[in-house]
Amino acid sequence: MCGIIGAIAKNNVVPVLLQGLQRLEYRGYDSAGLATIDNNKLQRIRSIGRVADLARQSSTACGYIGIAHTRWATHGEPSERNAHPHLSGNLIAVVHNGIIENYEELRMQLTTQGFLFTSDTDSEVIAHLIHSHYSRGNSLLAATQTAIGQLTGAYAIGVMAADNSNQIICARKGSPLLLGLGTDGHYIASDLSALLPITNNILYLQDGDVAEVSLSGYQIFDANGNTVERAVNICKLHSSKAELGEYRHYMQKEIHEQPQALINTLEGVCNSQALVPGIFGADAARIFPQIEKILILACGTSHHAGMVARYWLEEIAGISCTVEIASEYRYRVSVPDPGSLVLTISQSGETADTLAALNHAKDLGHTHTLSICNVPESALTRLSGLHFLTHAGPEIGVASTKAFTTQLAALFILTLILAKQRGGLDSKEEYNYLHALRHLPTAVDSVLKLAPDIARIAERFSDKRHALFLGRGLHYPIALEGALKLKEISYIHAEAYPAGELKHGPLALVDKEMPVIAVAPNDTLLAKLKSNLQEVRARGGELYVFADAGTRFHSGDGLHLIQMPEHAGYLSPILHTIALQLLAYYVALQKGTDVDKPRNLAKSVTVE
Ligand code: G6P
Repeated sequence: MCGIIGAIAKNNVVPVLLQGLQRLEYRGYDSAGLATIDNNKLQRIRSIGRVADLARQSSTACGYIGIAHTRWATHGEPSERNAHPHLSGNLIAVVHNGIIENYEELRMQLTTQGFLFTSDTDSEVIAHLIHSHYSRGNSLLAATQTAIGQLTGAYAIGVMAADNSNQIICARKGSPLLLGLGTDGHYIASDLSALLPITNNILYLQDGDVAEVSLSGYQIFDANGNTVERAVNICKLHSSKAELGEYRHYMQKEIHEQPQALINTLEGVCNSQALVPGIFGADAARIFPQIEKILILACGTSHHAGMVARYWLEEIAGISCTVEIASEYRYRVSVPDPGSLVLTISQSGETADTLAALNHAKDLGHTHTLSICNVPESALTRLSGLHFLTHAGPEIGVASTKAFTTQLAALFILTLILAKQRGGLDSKEEYNYLHALRHLPTAVDSVLKLAPDIARIAERFSDKRHALFLGRGLHYPIALEGALKLKEISYIHAEAYPAGELKHGPLALVDKEMPVIAVAPNDTLLAKLKSNLQEVRARGGELYVFADAGTRFHSGDGLHLIQMPEHAGYLSPILHTIALQLLAYYVALQKGTDVDKPRNLAKSVTVE
């Protein structure tokens, strides 16, 4: 989704802006642009292509102050005229993330005042609105404050005025924005990764904040216009963590980072001899015993993590659990249950629907909230009473991999802690589960060693247009996740079904052109799954079976076997999902798609 970087510095800021945009590319975008002020003149360069194209066009651009943007189209097609920054009268330049809901009404008013619109975007109204207040003698800060008071919707904005090369004004509501405090300058960005090579001193603006940023300092005002202090965080992430290194794609790198990501996420648990609720927050020990049910809200891959957790929570902890897609929950009339723990799961912590669903749950009277998130200081963690940070590190590939498996690890720990509190876990079981968690990174490593075998199998998918994934029980959500990965990055149409549903519809699609991928753990449902797979073979369907040790599948006669190294019991979904990530990755390589930035998709979906 859209990304912002802005800078005011002692040196030409164009290289910093371009580097920042490159680091924001992973979020997904379709056009990019930048504006600087040089000799009281706004210079703007925009490009419909990649940031690299913008960089080529910007070789002579210069300025000690500038704002830049990657755009992911919402209002108006991807085109140069719709790319940001938007200008008003060559005086005001604005970059904007989010959606202005009342833009049509504002556009009409501003057109009547004589402002000329040159794009189809909602964002352009912001530039003209600020211009209209600025030209009445207000400071740039006051003009921006008045303008945002007229906006309905979500925004993170960066604003400059051609006749004021000493200040960037920025503001946020509903979309993230942060300040970076460097030795040679001050910066604004929508995402930490844009600033990592420049500074580790980060200040997160809060909802409603407006900031005045200059070379010598900054001042922050809250929604009421009062001066406020916000804490400066020393960020521990290093930019090298986000480099590609020996890998061809970020997704490949992130798949292979999973053993370490799991070690980092499980650190606090595996180093202790017992499971304690405190890892979910100081209040968890008090709140968890009051919980009667769990309501999980999430989107995309994070929703699949929630679906796996439901099996664990009901079976191991004996606690009733509902899992709902956040965008459905937020608009449906539901029956609130204040005894429920509302559990949101999100890699980014900024997915608009997940944030809105959590706010909706709170409005309905739910008071117990927990988030599992990969980004510290994200909007989601701040909105939740309790939170657990997965330590997957920055995830750049749009298709989520290591964030998903670390979410599963966190959800398994939650399950065990709730089971223990409810008397459903004796000390021997606790010891065994902790042992299994400690072994998990090694088991994941063994799955990664299957990469060459999976790459060979993937060659058979290069001419396929459809694929069907089957799983049962705990592994049905893994089949869903496998299908999602394949469609996201290879553009092959893929569906997933619980294997028992095969004969209620999808069997009609099965013929020799339809590869059927089966997740076959060595669990109690194995015999049932085998019968379902017979139904596929009987119709000439080609089977690709990811089977655990001891499942007695044999390659040959329309069955391609990928032998998984072991059966990991309740943790088996984590191993199987990694094998399916590899399958999707190698199929995408066959297809020659843009693995890290699949068409039309975005990493963080910060708009509805
Ligand atoms: C986008 C991403 C997915 C992700 C989903 C939810 O669609 O492309 O990979 O699963 O958003 O994101 P979240 O950050 O809330 O986990």
